[in-house]
Amino acid sequence: MAETRKFPHHLIREIFEQPDALRRTIAPRVSQAEGRVRLDQIHISREELRALRRINIVASGTSRHAGMTGQYMLQELAGVPVDVDYASEFKYRNPMIGRGELSIFITQSGETADTTASQREARQKGSRTIAISNVEGSTIAREADGFIYTDAGPEISIASTKAFTAQMACLFLFALYLGEIKEKVPKALAQHYIRELLALPEKTETILAASDKVEKLAELYYRVDDFMFLGRAIHYPIAMDGALKLKEVSYIHAEGYPTGEAKHGPNAMIDFRLPLVLIATCDRNNNDAGSVARYQQSVSNMEGFKKQGATLIALATEGDTVVPQLANHTIFIPAVPELLSPILEIVPLQLFAYYVAAKRGLDVDHPRNLVKAVTLE
Ligand code: AGP
Repeated sequence: MAETRKFPHHLIREIFEQPDALRRTIAPRVSQAEGRVRLDQIHISREELRALRRINIVASGTSRHAGMTGQYMLQELAGVPVDVDYASEFKYRNPMIGRGELSIFITQSGETADTTASQREARQKGSRTIAISNVEGSTIAREADGFIYTDAGPEISIASTKAFTAQMACLFLFALYLGEIKEKVPKALAQHYIRELLALPEKTETILAASDKVEKLAELYYRVDDFMFLGRAIHYPIAMDGALKLKEVSYIHAEGYPTGEAKHGPNAMIDFRLPLVLIATCDRNNNDAGSVARYQQSVSNMEGFKKQGATLIALATEGDTVVPQLANHTIFIPAVPELLSPILEIVPLQLFAYYVAAKRGLDVDHPRNLVKAVTLE
């Protein structure tokens, strides 16, 4: 899709490269017939992985948002408790980690100083480490016990997009891999998830094929100066990243919040002047009770926000007829298991940030005051 088109900026090209990036990252590592994930560069024994007591995920910015989604994936599929830290804060909390634990460091560039320093500290304390990076041979990759390569291709634009979706795919692959080792994921479930993983690139293409709708939305909202992004559970990190993308490329104030936290303060700000981008997707095909309950809670929150006069831009699952009645605008994503939904949900939010920034006439690939790899602590 990306190869046959000409794009005015790296950012929009990289957003459109996501189906291919996902294909390269996922397909060579899975066998659907066997229900298996192969990760060749994890140099940690199965016995050691089976005995893991805890996992720490450490990263910055968008990579940390990937880590937040990984927390849900790993806890659900491998049954291990997972903590997520800001790399820039890791050393200040004297992390109580050590033997019998695994620390995962996620960094697109592989050179973010806070993240590489955190990995050294974790190793010093006796933790095993795995790095997830888009650069083979980077500092983080060289110094880790295990490495998972996000094969997203070079990411030039400062805003991270295709590396982010590839990071989430790698975290899901590792969660399946560990879930199998820990005997938490039966073969049939692994096969189901592998089928769904392999379907992600095509579903991403479906979202991209409707980019004109997101562009029209951006046309309506690009002059607005404040946004709030809301999502609960695994959708919350996507609300965070949707807000971060808008902030960094459009210089628009945007906050990402857990939907259920709105009533603990932010609600006071919510009226027609503050558009809410609310993630209200649901795992429809699998009739997942937890996902349905979370969706219903989000619908009920939307009803409340509507009574307050809020402007609602919703992300919903194709076929949903309830959310579009409550929202002023609805963007649809294809049905997908909830644990994989972040990989699709972020795509329209990336498009929105891009089109808003482009309509504001900004240098979308080089936002002011930012660099691609933050190599100073
Ligand atoms: C993402 O859009 C940002 N440019 C930024 O938050 C980035 O994710 C962060 O600086 C971490 O970079 P890394 O993945 O290279 O470590």
